[in-house]
Amino acid sequence: MSILKLAIQKKGRLSEKSIELINECAISFPNSTGKLVAKCYDFPMEILFLRDDDIPDYVQDGVADIGIVGENVAVESDKNVDDILKMGFGKCRLSLAVPRSFQYNSIQDLQGKSIATSYPKILKNYLDKHNIQAEIHVISGSVEIAPSIGLADAICDIVSTGSTLLSNGLKEVEQIFHSEAIIIGNKNLSEDKKVILDDFLFRLNAVRKAKKNKYILLNAPNASLDKIIQILPGIKSPTVLPLAENGWSSVHSVITEKDFWQIIQQLKEAGAEGILVMPIEQMID
Ligand code: PRP
Ligand code: ZN
Repeated sequence: MSILKLAIQKKGRLSEKSIELINECAISFPNSTGKLVAKCYDFPMEILFLRDDDIPDYVQDGVADIGIVGENVAVESDKNVDDILKMGFGKCRLSLAVPRSFQYNSIQDLQGKSIATSYPKILKNYLDKHNIQAEIHVISGSVEIAPSIGLADAICDIVSTGSTLLSNGLKEVEQIFHSEAIIIGNKNLSEDKKVILDDFLFRLNAVRKAKKNKYILLNAPNASLDKIIQILPGIKSPTVLPLAENGWSSVHSVITEKDFWQIIQQLKEAGAEGILVMPIEQMID
């Protein structure tokens, strides 16, 4: 029996969300802190808890079969792995930032300056494209303090909420790369492992689709049914059931989060009452 080894970030921006998503796929594992490996109870998978920067390496070498990492980490590492799926969470950007007192007008202002970063490859690429010669200082953590200790004039680092920059007296001046969590995979997965991976991806897609949709229930006077059914997109057409009260029906359907409020408003105007909206756990085509 094969086991698919999935590497996730041990501690950091992506860890909690990664674990949450795996659990929502009805895959559970003992989650005690400090552990390196956990075997899933109900799915042929093993979770490896690693430093995010190490994940692409381990996936390339087959120590892990697949991994959840930020695109920023995957691209910077430049390893020979497959990009399998964008996860839709962990969105952030890699940006250039300078001290608030720095009079910044354009990228030209960084000509000849020094920039601290953990992303030298992506940064170099960007600077080359804009014909900027700058001195790149590679540091692996706490990049945001570099200007204040006189190590660099600017930094290039991940910005998510922006609070790290703010609390270090820095301002974002250029966004150079947009990132989100992705699944990367080893290039030579065995057939057995591919089967497990497909099952995992199938579950992930069902969970993600469910999150984007809501189950809606409402009561409608029969006279308004046609109008209400037209408003509801549904997967096919909505389910309509007669209510005990004469002349009324119950309507069930699925709506996307995107047009949610607009649809609710239209339904109310069309005469819908007692509208109930519920989360969906899984959605399978
Ligand atoms: C990044 C970056 C900042 C923080 C920015 O680290 O280095 O510390 O996130 O987030 P904010 O804009 O919300 O304040 P990351 O989580 O990628 O971790 P790592 O580089 O230590 O792996
Ligand atoms: Zn990291």
